[in-house]
Amino acid sequence: MHRPLTLTLLIATAAAFASPAVRHASAQLPPDPQPPPRAALPRVEALLAAMTLEEKVGQMTQLTLAAVTAQGGPSHDSVRIDPAKLRQAIVQRHVGSLLNVVGGSLSIEGWHRLLGEVQGMAMRETRLGIPVLYGIDFVHGANYTLGGTIFPHNLGMAATFDAPLARRAGEITGDEALASGVPWNFAPVLDVGRNPVWPRFYETFGEDPTVAAILGREQVLGMQRGGRVAATLKHYLAYSASRTGHDRTPADLSVRGVRENYLPPFAAAVRAGARAVMVNSGEIDGEPVHASRYWLTEVLRDELGFTGVVVTDWEDIYYLHTRHHVAPSIKDAVRMAIEAGVDMSMTPTDFRFTDALIELVREGAVPESRIDQSVRRILTLKEELGLFDRPLPDPALRAGFATDESAAVARRAARESITLLKNEGGILPLRSDAKILVTGPAAQSMTALNGGWTHSWQGTDASLFPEAPRTVLEAVLRRGRNVRYVPGSGFTEPGDAAEAARLADDADVAVVVIGEDAYAEGVGDIADLTLPEAQLSLVRAIQATGTPTVLVLVEGRPRIISPVVDAARGVVMAYWPGMHGGEAVAEVLFGETNPSGRLPFTYPRYPNELLTYDHKATETLSPRFDGRGFEPQWPFGHGLSYTTFTYRDLRMDAARMDPAGRIRVQVTVQNTGARAGDETVLLYTRQRYASRTPYTRRLRGFERVSLAPGESRTVAFTLAADDLSFTGPDGRMVLEPGEFDVMVGGLTATFQVTAGLATTGGR
Ligand code: BGC
Repeated sequence: MHRPLTLTLLIATAAAFASPAVRHASAQLPPDPQPPPRAALPRVEALLAAMTLEEKVGQMTQLTLAAVTAQGGPSHDSVRIDPAKLRQAIVQRHVGSLLNVVGGSLSIEGWHRLLGEVQGMAMRETRLGIPVLYGIDFVHGANYTLGGTIFPHNLGMAATFDAPLARRAGEITGDEALASGVPWNFAPVLDVGRNPVWPRFYETFGEDPTVAAILGREQVLGMQRGGRVAATLKHYLAYSASRTGHDRTPADLSVRGVRENYLPPFAAAVRAGARAVMVNSGEIDGEPVHASRYWLTEVLRDELGFTGVVVTDWEDIYYLHTRHHVAPSIKDAVRMAIEAGVDMSMTPTDFRFTDALIELVREGAVPESRIDQSVRRILTLKEELGLFDRPLPDPALRAGFATDESAAVARRAARESITLLKNEGGILPLRSDAKILVTGPAAQSMTALNGGWTHSWQGTDASLFPEAPRTVLEAVLRRGRNVRYVPGSGFTEPGDAAEAARLADDADVAVVVIGEDAYAEGVGDIADLTLPEAQLSLVRAIQATGTPTVLVLVEGRPRIISPVVDAARGVVMAYWPGMHGGEAVAEVLFGETNPSGRLPFTYPRYPNELLTYDHKATETLSPRFDGRGFEPQWPFGHGLSYTTFTYRDLRMDAARMDPAGRIRVQVTVQNTGARAGDETVLLYTRQRYASRTPYTRRLRGFERVSLAPGESRTVAFTLAADDLSFTGPDGRMVLEPGEFDVMVGGLTATFQVTAGLATTGGR
C-alpha cells in the first residue's frame, strides 16, 4: 500500500560514514513501525454487547462544560457543576465525553473537584459505569490550568528547530494534563502554515511539511509517552490552506496538492501512534471535510492505518446543513458525517446529533454495525488510557506539575526561538549603560507575549496569568541602567507617538516592541497583513529623530513592516513566546543569549507576494520585477547570530543513490566567530527535471548544533528514496530517476538516481 510523502531521513551512524565528530540527533523522521492493529479488548466487547442503542450513541456525543454548569454562574476556577444538567447529560443521555473550560483556566484543585463530580456521577449513577472522557486544548503547554507551564506557540517552537525540545515540551504538556486529571489533549496542531494571513498561523509549525512532521511527531511521542494521555492531530486536513486567509474557509486544492503539502505531518504522527484526530471545519475542493469519506476513511484509515478516534470540531456536523449547505437537514448532516467516518460529535451544547443518529439507526439509514465501530474505538481509547481502572484525577501527580525543571524548559524554548532578523552595524547587543527608550504596544503586555489559548480562549484575560513572569519592558528594566518607557501607541489605535519621539530624541537607542495582541480563531481574521498604521506611525515618528531603532516583533503571524524596516537598525522576531518571552527577548537584546532561532516561514515584504520558500520556478519570473524574482522580507531559515558560521566539505558517499535507495551526505560547519553559538543546519534537495514541476528546493532534514568559538562539527544525513519522491498524478508517491542537487549552507552537490528504485512512501 502506498502512502503520501513521509520522511525517512536518518542521521548516519558514525561507523557508516561520517567522522566521529558526527552528532546524533532526531531531526529526521525514522521509519517508525506502524502501530499494531488494536486487539479487541474484553471489557470493551462485553460493554458493547450490553449497551442499548441510546447508550452507544451517547458515547459518540461530546458536550462542552458550559452545557452542564450553572447558567450565568461563576466561571474559571469557581465554576460549578449543575447536577441536574450533568445527570441529564451523562445518566439520561449517556454522553461519553466533555470538553473545554467555562471562561478560563481552573486550578489543579478546581480540575480535580470538577472531574471528581463528573466521574463520580458516571460511576455511581450510570447503568454501565463508563467513565467520561474529558478533552482540552493544551496547545502550548498546560494553558488551561492555573500556573501550568506555558511554551511558545508552535510557530516559535518551530523556530528552535530543536526536535528533542519539542519532545520534552510534549512530555511536560502530557504530564501536566494528566496531573490536572484531563487525559485527552486536542493537540498538536499539524496544519501546515502556508498562508500567513490565516489567524491560526501561530498554532502551526510554519510553512514546511517536513518541519511540521518532525516536530509534530515529537510532540505526540512526548505527550503520549506514559500511555495515559491521548494526543489529537488537528485539524485534518488542509484547514490552513484557506484561500481567503480567514478562519474556516475553503481550500481550493487538488488531491495531489493536499497530499504533497498538508498530509505529511498527519501521516508521520499517525505512524507515531497518535490516538485521535480532529477534523477540519472547512472544505477541500468543494467537499466539507466532515462529510468526506475519501479523506476520513479511505485516506486516514485505509491508507494511513489510523485506528483511533475521529472527533469533529465545534458544532461542525450541524454546519454541514447551516453553513456549508451540503445537507438539506440536520439529520442528513448527521448521516453524511457518520458515513464519512466521524466517531464523535463535538455537538457541543445540545442533543440534536444524538437524537438524529438514534432515529437514523432505527430507520435503517445507518447500520448499527457502523455505530459499534465508532463506539468500539471510543471505549478502546478509554480502556487504553486506563480510565476504567483509574477514572479519578490522581492527587499524587500534582508533584510533577509546573516544576522548576518544566519552567526551565519553557524558558529555554523561548530563548531558542528568538530570531535575530537584522543587525545593521552591530546595533545589538545593547550596552547596559546605554540610554534606552522602550516603547510600543507590546512592550508592557503579557497577553501579547502569550497569544491566544492562554488561560482563556482568546488569551486576553491577564488576570488569570501568574504573577512572576515579566514583560519585555520589565525584563529590559532589570538589565538597563538608563531606561525610559512610554507606550507610544495601541495595537490598532494611535497613542502619543509625539511623546515617544521626544524621548527617543534623547536616547541612544529606541526599542520599539510592536506586533499583535492575543487572538484565537476567527477573531483574528484580518483583511490586510500590513502592521496597523498606528504602529507604523509610531515607528516612523521615532525613526524621524535619527535615533537608532530596534524593532521587536511580538506577533502570531508575520505582519508586513516593509514601510519601516529599512530605517530600522535591528529587528528581533519573538513570535508569541509565552510566559518567559520577555526575559528571552531581553537576554538577546543585551547579549546574554546568542540568538539562534531561524524563521520557519517566509517573511513577506508585500501583502500580495506570499510565496513559500519551495515555490515553483515560474513563480518568480515576472518581468515586472526586473529579474529580482522572489524578494521576501526575509527567507525561510533566516536568522542571525552574534557569531559567524561557515560551511565546507559538502560530500556524498557516492555519485548515485545505492540500490537500497540510500545516499549519505555530510557537511562540516564551523563557528568562525568569537562567541559560542547554535547553528541550525538545513538540508535541501531539488530534482532538476520531473514529470510534475519540481520545487526550487525542499527541506529534507535539519540539525541544530552548538559550537564553541573555532569549533567544527561534521553533520551527516542519510537521504532515502522516499525523501526524493513526490506525489504523482494519481496521488501515489513516485520516485523519478534523474539528477538531484543537495543544498546545505550555501553549498551544492549533485547525485544521480537511476531507474529501478522503488519508493514506499515511508512504509
Ligand atoms: C477549535 C479547535 C478546538 C475546539 C475545542 C474549536 O473551535 O477549532 O481547535 O479544539 O474548538 O475547543
